[in-house]
Amino acid sequence: MENIIEVNNLAYKYGDGTKALADVSFAVEKNTRVAILGPNGAGKSTLLFHLNALYLAQQGQVKIKSQVVNDENKEWVRSQVGLVMQDPDDQVFSTTVYEDVAFGLLNFGWSDEEKIKERIEWALSSVDILDLQDASPHNLSYGQKKRVAIAGILAIEPEIIIFDEPLSYLDPQGKADFLGILDRLHKTEKTLLVVTHDMDFAAEWADRVIVIEEGRVLAEGGRELLANLELIEQANLDLPTITKLFQRLELTELSSLPQTIEEAVTVLKERL
Ligand SMILES: Nc1ncnc2c1ncn2[C@@H]1O[C@H](COP(=O)(O)OP(=O)(O)OP(=O)(O)O)[C@@H](O)[C@H]1O
Ligand SMILES: [Mg+2]
Repeated sequence: MENIIEVNNLAYKYGDGTKALADVSFAVEKNTRVAILGPNGAGKSTLLFHLNALYLAQQGQVKIKSQVVNDENKEWVRSQVGLVMQDPDDQVFSTTVYEDVAFGLLNFGWSDEEKIKERIEWALSSVDILDLQDASPHNLSYGQKKRVAIAGILAIEPEIIIFDEPLSYLDPQGKADFLGILDRLHKTEKTLLVVTHDMDFAAEWADRVIVIEEGRVLAEGGRELLANLELIEQANLDLPTITKLFQRLELTELSSLPQTIEEAVTVLKERL
């Protein structure tokens, strides 16, 4: 399988001397669902800024579709990699919600007004804020702004889509809608990376897990990492709720603790 993203020995220091990335290497295959976990300040957001060329590598390299990201190809990289930032205030800035979502499309050369309108209305409907299209983003709630930022990327729908903490501030319906959007994007062959502190979401959703700590990849692997007690403690993470419950109940071997509702049901049915 083709590696659509490759990061090799990436390091990055901010202007004030803060070393945000010390040495990060990993690869992602096309159409994978990747959860990126790690404590506050681990370097997750800094890493994402490199994946869509907002930051360029100071050391090491990032490759998107086998192309080394550099100053010359950063516009192309941004057409391939969409990033929904952690803080929507960094991303949502136009006078109206409609214009904000239009911004990306215009930037990527869309010119047919009718098509643009159709696309924007579809993207806003996907996150259930079509009624806010004429509102000023500044007056919106944080959760509504998050939805605008997501709609902006959905309108463009690049091949690789990265979400930095998309679930924070979304209400339960908003979360459910967002999970539906992720499923649809996965089915259309997109490669999806989600930074999250939500272990239950990671357990239910991810194919691959990357744990970042102090600017390094502490662990990378399948979902089984989420039930690895040693790793979870070392990275100051938490077990998925289901895993915690089964750990307390001592119903299974530690090595086979279920992580998802589906896995828990299977284990329980065998015992009933
Ligand atoms: N603009 C900046 N200038 C200087 N230091 C920064 C800047 N942005 C981030 N940092 C520092 O770089 C390190 C990594 O920050 P980053 O935002 O990448 O972490 P994170 O893993 O995304 O954390 P969180 O879970 O809180 O979002 C932290 O020590 C942070 O204080
Ligand atoms: Mg962050």
